[in-house]
Amino acid sequence: MIDSKHIREQFPILKKWINNKPLVYFDNGATTQKPQVVIDSIVKYYSEQNANIHRGVHTLSREATELFERSRQTVASFISAKSSEIIFTAGTTDGINLIANGSNFPKGSEIIVSQMEHHSNILPWQLWCERNEGKLKVIPINKDGSLQIEKLESLITTKTVLIAMAHVSNTLGVINPVKEIIQRAKAINSKILVLIDGAQSVPHMSVDVKDMNCDFFVFSGHKMYAPTGSGVLFVKENLFNTLKQSKTGGGTIKSVSFEKTEYVDGPLRFEAGTPNIEAVVGLAQACEFMNSLGVKNISAHEHLLLEHAQKELSTISEVEVYANHSNKAAVISFNVKGQHPFDVGTLLDKYGIAVRTGHHCTQPLMSYYGIQGTVRASFAIYNTKEEIDIFIEALKKTIKLLN
Ligand code: ALA
Repeated sequence: MIDSKHIREQFPILKKWINNKPLVYFDNGATTQKPQVVIDSIVKYYSEQNANIHRGVHTLSREATELFERSRQTVASFISAKSSEIIFTAGTTDGINLIANGSNFPKGSEIIVSQMEHHSNILPWQLWCERNEGKLKVIPINKDGSLQIEKLESLITTKTVLIAMAHVSNTLGVINPVKEIIQRAKAINSKILVLIDGAQSVPHMSVDVKDMNCDFFVFSGHKMYAPTGSGVLFVKENLFNTLKQSKTGGGTIKSVSFEKTEYVDGPLRFEAGTPNIEAVVGLAQACEFMNSLGVKNISAHEHLLLEHAQKELSTISEVEVYANHSNKAAVISFNVKGQHPFDVGTLLDKYGIAVRTGHHCTQPLMSYYGIQGTVRASFAIYNTKEEIDIFIEALKKTIKLLN
């Protein structure tokens, strides 16, 4: 059972007032707020532990290296991976680019994405196709936000090398049946690789990359209570040797001469330069924070919020909600009929409510619905039913003002 009062006390920013109203923060899909334990871990790192890692024999450097590598283990266990399969990145976008630039796909290959992808999981593949005479194919969706997975088999050809897909849509909240998609794709051709974008799933639900059987899995720290600039790329162990480095530098090598350089194997080969150490430490702390609450409890609490918000929104005739899907994470996209989402978002802000407005970096999805953007409310563990009631009242007043 989640004790909202106790949880909220752990997030200092939630005490803030915006426009003379208590902050109601519903922009968690963009980034979550940070609990005191994560903030403290960064302060402690700089106050007591800071040194460069993998580079020094002195005590502080060895301790910082141990802390960093322990963080890798914590993060690996969080998604049921091995630490040797975890590359630290700057975030989801960075991880996807690392695969797109590091893959050895033959020229003319085909890559499949879905209609609901975030731009970060379209553009690197589009660029790859442009540079390599490849073809980008798209799994269409239905109006309720479900994928037309029956089309998958017909999209796969002998040239298909990769399927790249969101686990949870950042705009709609729809949870995709990724395990089934991976099974179906690999049943046709076991060599097809699957990359799952977990940016919007890891903050809300338990993820087990082994059970899912994906080849690559990416997510960002800052959407799961950790600092910005931290992210994870999971690579199945047997695929490490097939990946080219897209950047090299200090920390990646065994030996360097002007004639020849030998690189280390494993994650460090892909972590050139001094990494964002404090963000990684904060990310491990955020995993521990989520574990301490229980990821299943987090999902259950957020699901109650989602149901309450959906029920309340359905009573407002001027509101149109997108993707009335039964399997969703705590994200709702809607519009007030005849109104621009920016106007709705701006007025909600006057009541202290932070929502995201616009295309949410999913313009092809907006085109599918024939709209320019939506208002998106996305919930996290510290949100409450009372906040949803405040939001609904503010939305009703906003609609009156706009009409
Ligand atoms: N991709 C983030 C979002 O959906 C920024 O808001």
